[in-house]
Amino acid sequence: MSNPKKNTVEEILSRLTVKEKVGQLIQISIKDPDLIEKVKSGTVGTVILAESPTAGNEVQDKVLLSELNAIQKIALESSPALPLVFARDVIHGHRTVFPIPIGQAATWNRDLVKKGGEVLAKEGRANGIHWTFTPMLDIARDPRWGRIAESYGEDPFLSAALGEACITGIEGQSLSDTTSMIACAKHYIGYGAAEGGRDYNTTEIGENTLRNIYLPPFKSAVKAGVGSVMASFNEISGSPVTGNQDLIRRLLKEELCFEGVVLSDWEAVAELLFHGVCESMEEAANLALNAGIDIEMVSTCYEKHLEKLVHSGSVKLEILEDSVRRVLEMKLKLGLLENPYTAENLGVDVYLNEHHKKIALDSATESMVLLENKNNLLPLEIELQKILLTGPMAHAREELFGTWTLDGKKSEVESLADFCKSLQASNITIGESVLHSDRLLKEVLDHEITLIALGEHPQRSGEMNSVSDLSLPAGQLDLLKKVKGIGKPVVVLLFSGRPLDLSEVRLYADAILWAWHPGTMGAQACIDLTFGIESPSGRLPVSFPRSVGHLPCYYNYKNTGRPHTRFPSNYIDSLSSALYPFGYGLSYSKVKYSPISLSKQEKKKGETLTASISLTNTGPVAVQEVVQLYIRDSKSSMTRPVKELKGFQKRFLSPNETVTVSFTIDDSLLSYYNHENKWVVESGSFEIWIAPDSVTGESVSLDFI
Ligand code: GLC
Repeated sequence: MSNPKKNTVEEILSRLTVKEKVGQLIQISIKDPDLIEKVKSGTVGTVILAESPTAGNEVQDKVLLSELNAIQKIALESSPALPLVFARDVIHGHRTVFPIPIGQAATWNRDLVKKGGEVLAKEGRANGIHWTFTPMLDIARDPRWGRIAESYGEDPFLSAALGEACITGIEGQSLSDTTSMIACAKHYIGYGAAEGGRDYNTTEIGENTLRNIYLPPFKSAVKAGVGSVMASFNEISGSPVTGNQDLIRRLLKEELCFEGVVLSDWEAVAELLFHGVCESMEEAANLALNAGIDIEMVSTCYEKHLEKLVHSGSVKLEILEDSVRRVLEMKLKLGLLENPYTAENLGVDVYLNEHHKKIALDSATESMVLLENKNNLLPLEIELQKILLTGPMAHAREELFGTWTLDGKKSEVESLADFCKSLQASNITIGESVLHSDRLLKEVLDHEITLIALGEHPQRSGEMNSVSDLSLPAGQLDLLKKVKGIGKPVVVLLFSGRPLDLSEVRLYADAILWAWHPGTMGAQACIDLTFGIESPSGRLPVSFPRSVGHLPCYYNYKNTGRPHTRFPSNYIDSLSSALYPFGYGLSYSKVKYSPISLSKQEKKKGETLTASISLTNTGPVAVQEVVQLYIRDSKSSMTRPVKELKGFQKRFLSPNETVTVSFTIDDSLLSYYNHENKWVVESGSFEIWIAPDSVTGESVSLDFI
């Protein structure tokens, strides 16, 4: 072979020993007691800046850039003198913390999610972090599952669109820029289908559902050029993903042509022994590498056994080298061979600057969903009414960050109470404590309107935090009933990492503003919306069930042979529909949708058509309307959902303004994976909706001939 150019993948590969090649596939924790020795011995490719598998739930050490540069120096002064990649879970912000991902999904705003990714990358890279383990693209239909907080919700199209936006924001124009990071589409695949909503639990997913529901966000991420994919902990129908060659090597790497790095989740390679599909770590290393796991996170199966497996021929050298090439490619793309160190002064202009805080404020504002607004109580008149702010979340600060916030600081976030005090609005009283409800009731009596801030502590969502009951945390519903019992208007500001059972809450609340965990600027966003400085535009990315007993509850269900329109196939003791459906949200105005017009009633393969409506803002204030395109495949060789989101546009309308909104419909919006796993569009009729949510509006028919 001609002499490969210096510092190319092939040139580097050609000078590595098998031991050094294996070293590139190993990720160790920054807290590994043997870190320096391992780096010096060239048996480390990357370092994760996390002390434990549950970094998202704990207060851990912040990143010390000088320490990272010092470790990098040791790596470069040791053989094979290759730079390390530093990785961290910068999930929804670094020092400027954005709403939790499911809150960002509620913005239905691609551009805002992309900007959030850009901010996260600028601040993380300035802190010496090259690789972040976000976005999480798991389809999440079960609010008992704590990690629904990290998802973009229940829909494949919305998750795919926002995942692409996030990845594009994080990876930027060039990964070698000091404003970019490697993103990670996770957890591949089906993790959110955990039985009972219990984290890490078994999943049973048929191939057709896997391809049509769980795969689209990853397919979109690969198309967007995501640099890495993280395999998931779960098994699917008897096979742990971490050891599944069909899913990783064949489907992800070959069929979807993914050329980046696949890494395991924390110790998931060693956990193949707990799954019972391996009897030794040597067997686990063999199974995982052949399945397509390029990097082993933290467990030591590769470190202890891979070199021997290659020398014995159990693992082919070409399989090993395919993984090493992917890792070397990552390092070259990051520009680490030329610039392995991070300048120590970048952060000062980057962390929490005004531009970043404004984007975080916009994200928080657009993430919040107005669920109830009886008698148009909101927006309140800040000057005219005597208002009491109270409730367990009124003084919450770092709780507003939400789960998986490793670098946000309590001193850098305001509570609702802090923000209201800063307004110096004489007629807003800050209720000092909820510890004495009798005193609180007296305060309610002395005011015209009560804002009561309720909700979950972030420790109730995120990893390993699944719940069996979706009620408000203990005592909060009782508090709300007592407050409403005084007989004056009550506005509920609700902070949560997951949908909750609001079937009673809605009876006692005159208005409900659903705020998720909104991040650094959450308090201001909440108050701006409550007092009409901003108009709510959030829409639900996930269905809200009437109770935990109504799960599973999602909008894109199948019709079955006995739909409830024919038989009482629903509960005999309750409505089975969502309390608040996918795509739902109120604003401070009323938007009128015209009937849909199609540019043609029939469509042939390869043709496109346009579906349009006109929107009129009939109300007194400007709004941002999330216009949603749904399509139903009414006749197909396999059963299809009663409707599926296939497009959305967020449009601004001034008072009394009318705009036309159009969607182009091509074969891809009508296609699905059939029983042969082929991506096809089949002849037959389709129904089309353009609507404000997943349960409203009349459809029109289209024939695909
Ligand atoms: C955790 C999570 C994963 C995270 C990783 C590193 O267990 O499952 O999402 O990126 O470990 O912290």
